[in-house]
Amino acid sequence: MPTAVEYARKEYPRFVEELKTLLRIPSVSTLPEHKGDVRRAAEALVAELKRIGMENVRLIEGAGHPLVYGDWLHADGKPTCLCYGHYDVQPPDPLDEWLSPPFEPTERDGNIYARGAVDDKGQMYMHVKALESLFAAHDGKLPLNIRVILEGEEEVGGESIAKFVREHPEQLKADFALVSDTEMFAPELPTVCVGLRGMIYTEIEARGAKTDLHSGIYGGAAPNPFVALAQIIAQLKDKDGQILIPGFYDRVQKPSPDELKAWRNLPFDEEYYRNTEVGSTQLTGEPGYSVIERTWARPTLDVHGMPGGFTGAGAKTVIPAKAVAKVSMRLVPDMEPQEAFAQYKSYVESLKPAGIELDVRLIHSGDPIVVGTDNAYIRAATVALKQVWNKETVFIRGGGSIPIVGDFERHLKIPTVLMGFGLPDDNLHAPNEKFHLANFYRGIESIITFFEEVGK
Ligand code: BES
Ligand code: MN
Ligand code: MN
Repeated sequence: MPTAVEYARKEYPRFVEELKTLLRIPSVSTLPEHKGDVRRAAEALVAELKRIGMENVRLIEGAGHPLVYGDWLHADGKPTCLCYGHYDVQPPDPLDEWLSPPFEPTERDGNIYARGAVDDKGQMYMHVKALESLFAAHDGKLPLNIRVILEGEEEVGGESIAKFVREHPEQLKADFALVSDTEMFAPELPTVCVGLRGMIYTEIEARGAKTDLHSGIYGGAAPNPFVALAQIIAQLKDKDGQILIPGFYDRVQKPSPDELKAWRNLPFDEEYYRNTEVGSTQLTGEPGYSVIERTWARPTLDVHGMPGGFTGAGAKTVIPAKAVAKVSMRLVPDMEPQEAFAQYKSYVESLKPAGIELDVRLIHSGDPIVVGTDNAYIRAATVALKQVWNKETVFIRGGGSIPIVGDFERHLKIPTVLMGFGLPDDNLHAPNEKFHLANFYRGIESIITFFEEVGK
């Protein structure tokens, strides 16, 4: 009988075709018109988990998109792993910047291009294929106990899974969680992520006149909500990127000297990052902090869009009655989302220009997290990664957020191993998202080896 890794190697062409089938489903969780597609992706995963031999496979319905659950709990005396992933994706726009359509997965120079290729369908599917390979090589058994939980709302804040974890911790009882939804620090450099930023995502709605007005007839007398938002936003940060919300930094923890030292030893080329990854003339942010510190260990504030008014081609002379700004903040340990939002809301309200009504809303939030590295599961991960990649693991943090990881710690009281195989140039959330196929393969082998190591 082949080993699990040998089985996977033989089946890679089929694994890739299956992944493409999943990537063709436009499961964009934030767009109501894709609700049916999100469900179709969930149902496809239910069918696949059943097919490979998982048990108790089902959809868990909630207020939003369904969760997918399955387990296999017959490895007596062995640890239980909770495998987490998300099958929803970000919207694909701007469409005209894609070299091949976002939902027609296309292979080019060793990569598979599609929305969700790496975030997170491709990475989540590595877990499924690692489990399939282990079942095949171990006579229909696994070397450890497994629960799989997949969500369809990660990209919109993950409310359903958070509620499920809070209300039914016993149904997800495990010794640790495995999440593959992060990046490697550099190609060929096996990486375990040990920290994620939290976030609060907000909207500021500004209202002026009771209806849209002719800007010639009323300009000079009627308040303009866009100008009001611009004035407010301009006071959220100073020109160095320092956030001006009173109290905002009070709980911010400095990374430990050991962590800072390890970060300084990572192979980071700031000029390459500026020119090739970011592609801007200059990098911005707080003076006195490295790029790594600014993106992993400092809170930030960004504006994502300002819907409202006239945005079509050409010109329309209107004073819009209302305008909205979508503003988010990334949080770091030990900031608390509810407190940060309260500080932000009262500051924004204090900046309200004359004649404007404001509504400051929280859309979603998630806790920042740092996971300890001193546990048997992280050690098993580094052993497995060494075997597959033939290099020592680097520990990094991620600037992004995966809200449920904090809940795993808080409500399930388990550590999470964040073992991701994305690359820095994978274009997450952007046009031409890709997954490097070699990483898909070696990711599967890493997960197989990790599970075998944990089950030893
Ligand atoms: N997989 C990402 C988060 C990520 C990416 C972490 C790279 C570390 C490195 C996740 O799907 C994501 O995009 N999360 C959102 C969360 C939000 C919508 C609550 C994010 O970070 O914007
Ligand atoms: Mn993700
Ligand atoms: Mn994402």
